[in-house]
Amino acid sequence: MTETFIVVGAGHAAGQAVATMRSKGFEGRIVMFGDEPYVPYERPPLSKALLAGELELERTYLKKESWYPDKDIDFRPNTRVTAFDRKARTVTTAKGEALSYDKMLLATGTRVRKLQVPGAALDNVFYLRAIDDTLAIRKRMAGGSRVVIVGGGYIGLEVAAVAVKMGCHVTVLEGLERVMSRVVAPEVSEFYAQVHRDAGVDIRTGMAVSGFEGGGAVERVHCADGSSYDADLVVVGVGVIPNVELAAEGDLAVDNGIVVDEFCQTSDRHIWAAGDCTNHPNSLLGSRLRLESVQNAVDQGKTAAAAMCGDRKPYAEIPWFWSDQYDLKLQIVGLSEPGDEVIIRGNPDERKFSAVYLRHGKFVAINAVNMIKDFMAAKKMIAEHRAIDEDRVADAGVALKDL
Ligand code: APR
Repeated sequence: MTETFIVVGAGHAAGQAVATMRSKGFEGRIVMFGDEPYVPYERPPLSKALLAGELELERTYLKKESWYPDKDIDFRPNTRVTAFDRKARTVTTAKGEALSYDKMLLATGTRVRKLQVPGAALDNVFYLRAIDDTLAIRKRMAGGSRVVIVGGGYIGLEVAAVAVKMGCHVTVLEGLERVMSRVVAPEVSEFYAQVHRDAGVDIRTGMAVSGFEGGGAVERVHCADGSSYDADLVVVGVGVIPNVELAAEGDLAVDNGIVVDEFCQTSDRHIWAAGDCTNHPNSLLGSRLRLESVQNAVDQGKTAAAAMCGDRKPYAEIPWFWSDQYDLKLQIVGLSEPGDEVIIRGNPDERKFSAVYLRHGKFVAINAVNMIKDFMAAKKMIAEHRAIDEDRVADAGVALKDL
């Protein structure tokens, strides 16, 4: 009898998973549900080239629309799965349809964290996570617009770079004392803040937004220190939260993410989960974690799909991330922790340098700015838990791989 695999979600993890299911030779039925109108697409360009209008929408798609029917994948756009029944092995959609599965993959991802302040529901206060968000922002943003950005993380700073290049007046209001503090070293935060200021972005740190004001649409942003900023539009990028409610209501183990093992299997032997929504073990790091990363979504999508096809290989990769702002490529490998020693290689003034993180003499993470070779070498070295010659790290003339 033909088996049915149901995939809930249509992001990076889901898009990768359905491709792997077919490449592994699964010939049964595949049904993929997405609550957006689009086939799985790349999210990184949404705050970069797509927002800048430099990329056609279809170029963000992981696979062309025609690929899904060609591979006999039943993709259901605009369809939310609202519940599943583990015993009966069925899912129910918001459209009231019920469907049986033999195996199911949850790739429900994350959603934006919303600001809870007065006026947050005014028009032209945007968040950026999906294609429609980018299109809505782009429609509103033009040369001369006053753009206030709340949050100086990946999203906030990438939007700032695009907006200022477009000729907008841009202010970034970051809550903490430095930008991108979650992911980079203080020296790297400092460098990026200066690059943005040189480009004309007004970067303000330690700012608590207390409310938005306007008649219908936002006109002004107020902060707790009494300052306020005129705005034609606001873009908020203050982090994301995992979509775990469906799994929790379905009675799966959830703990800051859907709990899975190294094969992406949940606490139910017919259900797997992959991507930003999972809490998974990583033997290379020796801990469990939840990651917001394209690399993790793609790799877990592969692992889960392979396991569903009977090919069980444990997932363990050193996490990596990237951000493009102006002509700068920031690449991050590994997870740093407070207390790690940081050594700077190369020269920030030449816009080419790395921050190398050491823990007990071992190389654990890197922030590489326009340092592709360091990034490539670091991926391998960190996975191998290499010790590193501390005295020579700072000398960018010596290749990282030779340390
Ligand atoms: N006011 C101002 N700043 C805030 C507030 C607030 N109320 N709350 C949080 N911040 C700041 C954080 O200090 C941080 O610098 O917002 C920033 C959020 O940055 P990220 O955590 O990187 O989240 P975001 O930029 O929204 O990106 C969301 O998208 O790029 C992907 O996977 C990536 O996880 C990332 C996700």
